[in-house]
Amino acid sequence: MCGIVGYIGTKNSLPILIEGLKRLEYRGYDSAGVAIINSKECKVIKTKGKVSELEKLVSAHPVESHLGIGHTRWATHGEPNTINAHPHFNKEKTLFLIHNGIIENYLSLKKGLLKEGYEFISETDTEVLTHLIDHYLKLKNSLFQAVRYALNEVEGTYGIAVIYKNEPDKIVVAKKGSPLVIGLGENENFVASDVNALITHTKQVIYLEDGEIAEIHKDSYTTKTISDETIIKEIFHVDVGIDDITKGGYPHFMLKEIMDQPESIYNSMRGRLVYDEGISKLGGLQGFEDRIINSKRIIISACGTSWHAALVGEYMIEQYAGIPVEVEYASEMRYRNPIISKEDTVIFISQSGETADTLAAMKEAKKKGALCLGICNVVGSSIARESDAGVYIHAGPEIGVASTKAFTSQIVVLVLITLMLARKRNLSLPDGQDIIKHMQKLNEKVAEILKQNEYIKDIAEKYADSKNFLYLGRGYHFPVALEGALKLKEISYIHAEGYPAAEMKHGPIALIDNNMPVVFIATKDSVYEKVVSNIQEVRARKGRILAIVNEGDTQIESMVDHVIKIPKSHNILNPILSVIPLQLIAYHIAVKKGLNVDQPRNLAKSVTVE
Ligand code: AGP
Ligand code: GLU
Repeated sequence: MCGIVGYIGTKNSLPILIEGLKRLEYRGYDSAGVAIINSKECKVIKTKGKVSELEKLVSAHPVESHLGIGHTRWATHGEPNTINAHPHFNKEKTLFLIHNGIIENYLSLKKGLLKEGYEFISETDTEVLTHLIDHYLKLKNSLFQAVRYALNEVEGTYGIAVIYKNEPDKIVVAKKGSPLVIGLGENENFVASDVNALITHTKQVIYLEDGEIAEIHKDSYTTKTISDETIIKEIFHVDVGIDDITKGGYPHFMLKEIMDQPESIYNSMRGRLVYDEGISKLGGLQGFEDRIINSKRIIISACGTSWHAALVGEYMIEQYAGIPVEVEYASEMRYRNPIISKEDTVIFISQSGETADTLAAMKEAKKKGALCLGICNVVGSSIARESDAGVYIHAGPEIGVASTKAFTSQIVVLVLITLMLARKRNLSLPDGQDIIKHMQKLNEKVAEILKQNEYIKDIAEKYADSKNFLYLGRGYHFPVALEGALKLKEISYIHAEGYPAAEMKHGPIALIDNNMPVVFIATKDSVYEKVVSNIQEVRARKGRILAIVNEGDTQIESMVDHVIKIPKSHNILNPILSVIPLQLIAYHIAVKKGLNVDQPRNLAKSVTVE
């Protein structure tokens, strides 16, 4: 997600900042900006879009300075436009701040600052922090102390870099939850959110830890804790070459995004769980809760992978909140004149927020008076803007055409919505708390599965020559079977179909012979024994079987060709875990076949045409 760079030294800062931002482009972003200070002026240049656009603006107004900060933003609060882009600044345009992360209590901080007469020009949480630092600057007269005091009031996550005209010999940086490194040079120092932005300048780095803050000069630095105690930090030598740094060291965006999932899943639930009440708190749905709870029916509409997430949502909302749910392909819904009334809630799920069919279906549902909610990843996207209310999944930029981390985050958000609805209806406090406890362990469990990447690769490669695949699962794993098949089709061009496991005997079983690999998702849940019977049926017909099972399951292991084991979890969270091996299988098969994983033929990341 998003990038930070900063420079203080004897060279001209702007080219260094632009180069650093370019090295962070692989993380994905929607806007970019720089701020510099020299003895005569302070200048901030920002733009929506690419760093190359920013570079054009910068070269049109060349200015020499030895102190500057630069940022690529991935919007979380406020749409991606020039005003919301970072750096943010105070009224006098003397204080400049770049920020990665989310200030969770920004609304209450903003209220206080508004009372003091501060004015806001952007919609971001970051601007609130800028003014809060400005407020303390006036009281403390020291940039370092002002930043420290302000951060003591902040809830949420941040990696920040701040510069101030009246103290032009320093950059102040701090970190909690978002990465921040300091690069040490000869008569110059650097800051960045990622060593990739630094390694052409220096290999000596200091990694800030959460709750640490540093003041960086061109030839010295001090590091402290947020409570003002001095700390000595270890200096590391990074051994990264320029070739390693595209896509964060991964060969493809898709693999990077699969590997991002412990973090992206955590980001989707961060600040949204209230354990004591066993409930979720979703700011974006505030004021609409009663209308949703009292809906006669919930319809979830989407396309592709997002439609698979919708199916998981149907199962969980009906099971736990007891509200009837229907799932519709957006492309069908938009043209078939569906019966939708004012008493319905329609949820639209879209990673990009720009899918033409989903957008058109939303317009149709709005016309019929339904409450329209959006579940999107891209902040400020059309679906996010045009829905009545909604929830961002906060998965971070997804660049690989095959959706991976957005799918798992969409399910996390559907669990949060289910929890909110269910607790306000029939779900008991302990049952709500049980779901939350399992959610809090989810990122560790995902990381555990990802550790098996090499093992999964070995298995996947054994199946790479297959011409067809069948994916089978029941209950919550039926949509996962569909998603596993879609991933494989999209990037490996192997024909694959997903089915509810029991449907196999109504047709697809005719396909099974010793050339047909069948992937079963068979974790220990209420339909486990039924799936075991389906496995027996395939085995009797000599199909090759690969099964996703729970750790400790020995029964299925003895019946199939290969197993991949995943940790146990709550039944509504199981799809998040079981899909990960399927993402990796598709990825490794496509790589083995030498295909363009990130941009498969005929597909676009955002399908903005019908
Ligand atoms: C996912 O791997 C696909 N590329 C595709 O099915 C995608 O999920 C679909 O086009 C919907 O996109 P959206 O979530 O951005 O609306
Ligand atoms: N929350 C901030 C914003 O929306 C920072 C986003 C980022 O990490 O780029 O502006």
